[in-house]
Order: sequence, then structure tokens, then C-alpha cells
Amino acid sequence: MVRINENFIKIPATYLFSEIAKRIARHKLENPSADIIRMGIGDVTLPLPEACVEAMIKAAEEQRVSETFRGYGPEQGYDFLRRSIIENDFKALGIEADEIFVSDGAKSDTGNIGDIFSPNNKVAIANPSYPVYVDTNVMGGRAGEPTENGGWTDLIFLRCDESNGFVPELPAEPVDIIYLCYPNNPTGITLTKEQLRLWVDYARTNRAVILYDAAYEAFITEEDVPHSIYEIEGAKEVAIEFRSYSKTAGFTGMRCAYTVVPKTVMAFSESGENISLNKLWLRRHTTKFNGTSYVVQRAAEATYTPEGKEQVRNLVRYYMENARIIRQALQSVELKVFGGINSPYLWAKTPDGMNSWEYFDFLLKKKNIVCTPGAGFGSGGEGYVRFSAFGDRDRILEATERLVR
Ligand code: MLT
Repeated sequence: MVRINENFIKIPATYLFSEIAKRIARHKLENPSADIIRMGIGDVTLPLPEACVEAMIKAAEEQRVSETFRGYGPEQGYDFLRRSIIENDFKALGIEADEIFVSDGAKSDTGNIGDIFSPNNKVAIANPSYPVYVDTNVMGGRAGEPTENGGWTDLIFLRCDESNGFVPELPAEPVDIIYLCYPNNPTGITLTKEQLRLWVDYARTNRAVILYDAAYEAFITEEDVPHSIYEIEGAKEVAIEFRSYSKTAGFTGMRCAYTVVPKTVMAFSESGENISLNKLWLRRHTTKFNGTSYVVQRAAEATYTPEGKEQVRNLVRYYMENARIIRQALQSVELKVFGGINSPYLWAKTPDGMNSWEYFDFLLKKKNIVCTPGAGFGSGGEGYVRFSAFGDRDRILEATERLVR
């Protein structure tokens, strides 16, 4: 008799953003003329940078003729892209091309990375956090059993709330794997170098690994905010970093990201042997993934040309101006708001003691505005909602008018 992975029946049946989509669809069915403004899932709205489109057309033309046609590419990504990544994103940080693994998204990578770790590791995750970290650890058997307050018996949740400025404190008990995401999804908060250094030092002392999700680094506007964990001394021994073109260059539909696994990051076998995680991830990646498409990798490469860089900067500027507008509107109706300065996400406290799903429903039904309920990011998100700044400017302005009205 075939058996299922029992861990799948422990998690809620629908993923957060699928549940939101279901509620929107129901509202639309009941109110066909509703003019809904979506500020929920962080999906981009501006078209691709022209440099990327041109690169894709050229790459598609190459596929027309046998001399330049390409079949399977290297699973880890083409050299042209890995070299551009090193040259532009990591030149000063000592990362090498064979430490870069090109993929189809940071969601897949942060979800799949668990494959190379023992189910017996103790995992620490911020609360609230991007739901993929918790859900994939449940699937991988590292979470134990669900608890009444929405937690898991074997996961260590790092409390992030107003009292600690949404910055997690070091865990009281030893942990082996730590998920950090900065600029943070969902709170929009960033860490200073000093705050990040505490985690790197912790990981070095405790022989732990940090899984650092930097998918939103392009949205940092303030000086002195680290863009990469490798800016911290010693991080190359203990950290894996995830980057993405999704939000930075409008690739949510194109799918391209990369993960940095320095050869110096080690984990340990049962017999105490040091094993390079780069080797394990290479084995996993080449076995379960056949590479991001050539055409898409050429588009990603184009983000590093002078025109591409300028066009990407313009996209980021546009969304960050949206963030400023939303932040101002939320403040004008006296909502307490965080984030939106180094991040396209704004984290707002719900009014009148409403819980997050109540406020979500209120905004949907009364204002035709979609946000993301904070509770969907964990119990620590209860009493908050998240607004995404990735919308079209006119729609954002209309939404802020509706909010203020
Ligand atoms: C979000 O809204 O949190 C993100 O768009 C989800 C994702 O990147 O998968």
C-alpha cells in the first residue's frame, strides 16, 4: 500500500497566497463589478527592462539556427551569467563563479535547500516570516508537531515584534540552521552590520549555518545597510545567500534567481566529518534541476549592462516611490507603519484591535483593496497586515485615496 509523506497532512491545506487568491475570487464572484486593487502578493506590474527584452529576442533568434542552437545547458547556470554575477554583485566580496548556482527562483531554492540537511537539525525561523521557510521544514520532517498557538514543537521561533523593533534576538537554546531574510519579508525591516555580525558570530561559535534570503536587497536606499551577508567577516564560513531577479528586474513570470554557496561553508556528517555544502548542493542541483532556460539567463545577464542597470534602477525607484506614497497614506489615517524605506513592503498595525484576517476582509469588502494578513506569516504577524508597493502608480494613488476616505 502506497504511503504519503505524513508531514504534508500536518500543514494547512492551502499556501497563504493561494488562500488569499481564493478569497479574492469569491469576492469578485459576489461583486462582479468590484474594482479590486491588489496590494497583496509581491508581484510586479511594470514591464521588463528593454535591455532584457532585447537580449531575449537575440537569444531566441540564436535558437533558430543550428550553429547557435542550444539544448541542455549547465545545471548551475551558464558561465556568462555566473561571471556577470561575480563581476557586478560580489566582486569585492571574494565569491567565485563556482559558488554561484543559477535557478528558477529564490522560493524554490529556499524551499529546496532543506534537501541537503539532516532532519535532526534544530531550525530557527523568525516569527513572522515568509511562509516557505516553515512549510518546507514541516515537509522535510524537521518541524515536529503543530502546537495550539500555530507553532511547531521542534522549530525555534524567533520573536519579532514592536518591542524588539522586529529584530530577532539570538536563540536561548542552540540551533543548527537559522533563516534570516533582509530586507525582511514581511516587515520591511533591515539589519545593521552590527546586528548581522551577531548572527554570523553565533553561527561560527555554534557550528550553525545561516540561510540568508536577500531577494529584496536592490530596494535598500539607506547607507550602511548590508546588501549581502558576505559583507560581514567570517560569513563565508557559515552562510548561504539567496538572490533573485524577480522583484529587482521584474522577473516574477520569467523565473531566474541564484544561490551563493561558498566552498568554505561546512556541515558535519554523523561521524563528525566536515562536508562542504557547496559539493552537496551541486549534487542536488545537478540531479534535480536541468537549468534555467538559456533565453532567460541572457535576459538576466542584460540586467548588468549599463542600459540594463539604469532600467533596473528606474524600476526600483518607481516601486520605492509607491512605497513612500503608501507609507504616507497609512500614517495619515494614523496607522502605525513599519518598513517601506529599504523595502517594497509596508507592515501596518491593524486599527481598532481587529485581527489580521478581519482587517483583510474589511479592506477587501469595503474598499476593494487586497493586502496580506500578517497572521499568514506566523502568529507573530497577528494584528498586522502587509501592503506591497509593486502596483501601478495610478492604482496605488486610487488605493491610498480609498484608504483615506
Ligand atoms: C510575497 O508576496 O511574499 C512574495 O511575492 C512571495 C514570493 O516571492 O514567492
